[in-house]
Amino acid sequence: MKNLVKTPAEIEVMRAGGRILAAVLRQVAAAVKPGVSTAELDKIASRELLARGAKPSFLGYSNEQGQAYPASLCTSINRVVVHGMPSAELVLKEGDVLGLDLGCWYKGLCTDTAITVPVGAVSSQARKLIKAAEQALHEGLKQVRGAARLGDIGHAIQTFVAAQGFAVVRALTGHGVGRAVHEEPSIPNFGRAGAGSKLVTGMTLAIEPMVNAGGYEVETLTDGWTVVTADGSLSAHFEHTVVVTDNGYEILTKV
Ligand code: MF3
Ligand code: CO
Ligand code: CO
Repeated sequence: MKNLVKTPAEIEVMRAGGRILAAVLRQVAAAVKPGVSTAELDKIASRELLARGAKPSFLGYSNEQGQAYPASLCTSINRVVVHGMPSAELVLKEGDVLGLDLGCWYKGLCTDTAITVPVGAVSSQARKLIKAAEQALHEGLKQVRGAARLGDIGHAIQTFVAAQGFAVVRALTGHGVGRAVHEEPSIPNFGRAGAGSKLVTGMTLAIEPMVNAGGYEVETLTDGWTVVTADGSLSAHFEHTVVVTDNGYEILTKV
């Protein structure tokens, strides 16, 4: 495995970039309301990143089929799990569950963060799902420290989510992040405690549980990007970029 440990100078840059990213995502979230299109949210995200000296990292990022992602922000509504593409035709309505995922480059390094927010008043099931997905991220983060195993993270997330009566997506994972949008290691949101490779202090990781109200199965639409739940159930997603420390972790994508 390549050296995935960042230097203190690199971590300092990611801390600054992560703070910018979190502030911009907060601004995007503040604009969410019925009647707003996801294209308008994307515009806010790119404008505010550039205003703070950062650059969107998803714009132009290619998938395995070589298709470039066309926006700065991922906007994933209801059954869309991740990678929903902003569009002027996609107008938010009361009751929607909206995932917002944003990444940026800042001084040569990147960070990645996501939240899921309700649009106006949502169903009690939607509220429970959003809460569970956010808590799942924190259950995973609690496992992070130097010398912990990757499987500890996935196991904690999966156990928590199953106890809530929901399912974690298996086909998509968290990942290392920093010198590239996606680096090693891949971080599954399910697994066996004590299994998998060891975390090392100074690694920078994007932990990101995706939680479905129904089954864990997902499909990718013919646009090559949009990932949806196979059964049409709601999905929620939260993500932070963190740096591994000897005794735990530090969240880099916080304001
Ligand atoms: N932010 C996504 C992740 O959490 C990656 C998005 S790539 C994009 O890993 F091109 F779809 F934006
Ligand atoms: Co992301
Ligand atoms: Co990510």
